[in-house]
Amino acid sequence: MMEVTEDFFRLPAETKKQFAQEPGQLDGYGHLFVVSEKQKLDWSDVLYLNTQPPERRNMKFWPDSPANLRVTLDKYTAAVKNVAECLLAIMAKNLAIQPEAIAEKCIDGIQTVRMNYYPPCAQADKVIGLSPHSDAGLLTLVLQVNEVQGLQIMRDGKWVPVSPIQGALIVNLGDTFEVCSAFANLCFSGHHQIDWLCIADRYKSVEHRVVVDPQKERLSIAVFHNPSMDAMTMIGPLKEIATCEKDQVYKTVDHASFRRLYFSAKLEGKNFLEGMKLKISSSSS
Ligand code: OGA
Ligand code: NI
Repeated sequence: MMEVTEDFFRLPAETKKQFAQEPGQLDGYGHLFVVSEKQKLDWSDVLYLNTQPPERRNMKFWPDSPANLRVTLDKYTAAVKNVAECLLAIMAKNLAIQPEAIAEKCIDGIQTVRMNYYPPCAQADKVIGLSPHSDAGLLTLVLQVNEVQGLQIMRDGKWVPVSPIQGALIVNLGDTFEVCSAFANLCFSGHHQIDWLCIADRYKSVEHRVVVDPQKERLSIAVFHNPSMDAMTMIGPLKEIATCEKDQVYKTVDHASFRRLYFSAKLEGKNFLEGMKLKISSSSS
């Protein structure tokens, strides 16, 4: 998978353009999160493809060059899906809920892949490889193709570099999991008075970005795992966790709307998730 990714980005621009994204669509070769013509683009090229369920595959955008890309991508993403499903089951256990609560949303779940190519930039501090964001889905598994450092995560208000480990998968928690695992928490400020309700997210999606190296290119493969797009699949705090009405700290919307809202917002940290929060009224009884 690492090899075919490198081989694809090495192809002449003319060849890669045969798989270029089309207006209003995410699949294909190009850039993601383009919402306006005036916007400054991230310093990267991407190849974004739907991989699961099979009927979402748009083969027009699956490069037939390098020759083994399609079959390799098919095998790799099937294997990664197994890893993601195992991790989700363990996380459900950690939340003390039945694995089915999450697994049933993932029957015919959407899996997409983004192969990223970050060219070097002599003025690396003037550009950004990938703008700060959190991923939309449940879990993202990222494989670094080469050992150039670039990924950073936000922790305690600071950007912390993630060191590449050869052959290791980086697991990023996405917004959907944060929403599903959220519930309200009562905060007391003395005198047994409830001052406000705050959101207790058992799992928080990780804000991350990619910076560019002045000399070396960087390549990575991110595989995103999401619930199904079935009209009945709702995204909101799980009833197994959020047991009463005050626990509904995030809006509940169908998955198609959730994704539409996510992809129409400019990439800007966790701003999308902020917009999904319900207003929590303070109480003092
Ligand atoms: C992404 C992403 C990280 C990386 O594609 O959403 O965060 O290391 N990629 O390229
Ligand atoms: Ni990401």
